Parts: sequence; structure tokens; C-alpha cells
Amino acid sequence: MIILVGSNKGGSGKTTLSCNLAVILAKSDSNNDVCLVDADRQGSAARWHQERESADITPAITLIQKYDNLTKTLQTLNEKFTHVIVDVAGRNSREMITAATVADMVIAPHQCSQLDLDTLGELQEQIIRVIDLNPDLKIFIYQTMASTNVQVIETERNDFQSYVAEFPEFTPLKSAGRYRKIYRDVMSEGLSVLEGSNKQAIEEITALHQELFSHG
Ligand SMILES: Nc1ncnc2c1ncn2[C@@H]1O[C@H](COP(=O)(O)OP(=O)(O)O)[C@@H](O)[C@H]1O
Ligand SMILES: [Mg+2]
Repeated sequence: MIILVGSNKGGSGKTTLSCNLAVILAKSDSNNDVCLVDADRQGSAARWHQERESADITPAITLIQKYDNLTKTLQTLNEKFTHVIVDVAGRNSREMITAATVADMVIAPHQCSQLDLDTLGELQEQIIRVIDLNPDLKIFIYQTMASTNVQVIETERNDFQSYVAEFPEFTPLKSAGRYRKIYRDVMSEGLSVLEGSNKQAIEEITALHQELFSHG
């Protein structure tokens, strides 16, 4: 299965989400059959992976860096690995489009801010063209860096949902990630939040994993 983590907004949490998903999928798959593809020339996922590898953290994740047209590479990797996770740059990149044509799902992390949500229209335009080539593609919007302030949580969630509802091609995910320092702290050590001590962050990634993968 090819999972593309992509959106048109830089800094929306794509790399953080990709690395956390890679670890939870590797932990839940007895064969540890996960490949993370870093298709962003900034190489943040590759640096995370380097930290993980040099500290001998298990489960080990396979990482590949590949740019430009990803189609063939992803098809080949998909035969070898149960899960292939693709981390791309923000913007309308060639990597994002070529990956979307062969992906099973796109997960687009978005903050509930006008600046982030404004880019959903742009994503829709690109995705509509890709769906002609890949009609089974599912597109999920994941609310990330959501507020932890109890007085704001509900209104923010409602705003997010009503905005995403304007785009019939997109499905908002029920699970959401909140703004927590732990997400930043673990990345520099090559870890996921699952390997940290913040229970709420662990629950967030676990809930996302269940929602996406619990029944195939
Ligand atoms: N849930 C979160 N809580 C707090 N900070 C986060 C969270 N997710 C990501 N970040 C931070 O936000 C910044 C952008 O995240 P990153 O994953 O690099 O985004 P992208 O790959 O979309 O550019 C990074 O500094 C990262 O540590
Ligand atoms: Mg990134």
C-alpha cells in the first residue's frame, strides 16, 4: 500500500506525520515491512532516519531518497514492502503528482488556520486531474497542530470540518493531532512520539493508525 503524505503547505507537519506513521506501521507489522520515501530535497525525513539508524533504534525503518518522477520507484517498492510512505515537499511538486497517480491514499495534514486551509482549493485542482488516472485514490485531511486549549478545541474542530466539507473529494479524519512540544523533541533524536513519554501524543498517533488501517 502506498501512502502519500502531501499537501500544498510547507510546515504543515508532513514530515513529522510521515516518520510517526512509519514507526507505528513498523511496530504493528510483524515483518517490519515499511519503507519511507523521502522525496523532498530538504531531506528532513532522511536526517531523522540517519539519527535513528546511528542510534540503532528498533524497529529499523528502510529509507529511500528519490526525486522527480516517483511512479516506477513506488510501484517497485510496493511489491517489496507492505507499506510505502512518501514524504513530499509542500507545493505542487512533481514528486507529489507522480506519487499520487500510483498511491492508495493521500493524507494531507492541515492546521485549522486560514492560510493552511486556503491551500485546499489548490490541492483539489491537482487531485481532480490525478483522480482521472487513479480513480480509487482516497484523500484524507488530517487536522494537525490543533489547539490544546479546552475552550477552543470544539470551535476549531467545527471550523475545520465545515471548511473541509466544501470539498467533496476530501474526507476529514476523525482523529487529530494537537500542538505538543514532544512532536518536535523526538524528531531530532530519530524517534517517534510512540517512543517518547507523552501519553496524549501516543494516543493521537495510535488513533490515526486505527482509523486508517484497522480494517484494511
Ligand atoms: N503536532 C505538532 N505539535 C508541535 N509541533 C509540530 C507538530 N507537528 C509538527 N510540528 C513542528 O512543525 C514544524 C513543521 O513540521 P514538518 O513536519 O517539518 O512539516 P512539513 O514537512 O510539512 O514542512 C516542525 O518544526 C515540527 O517539529
Ligand atoms: Mg517536510
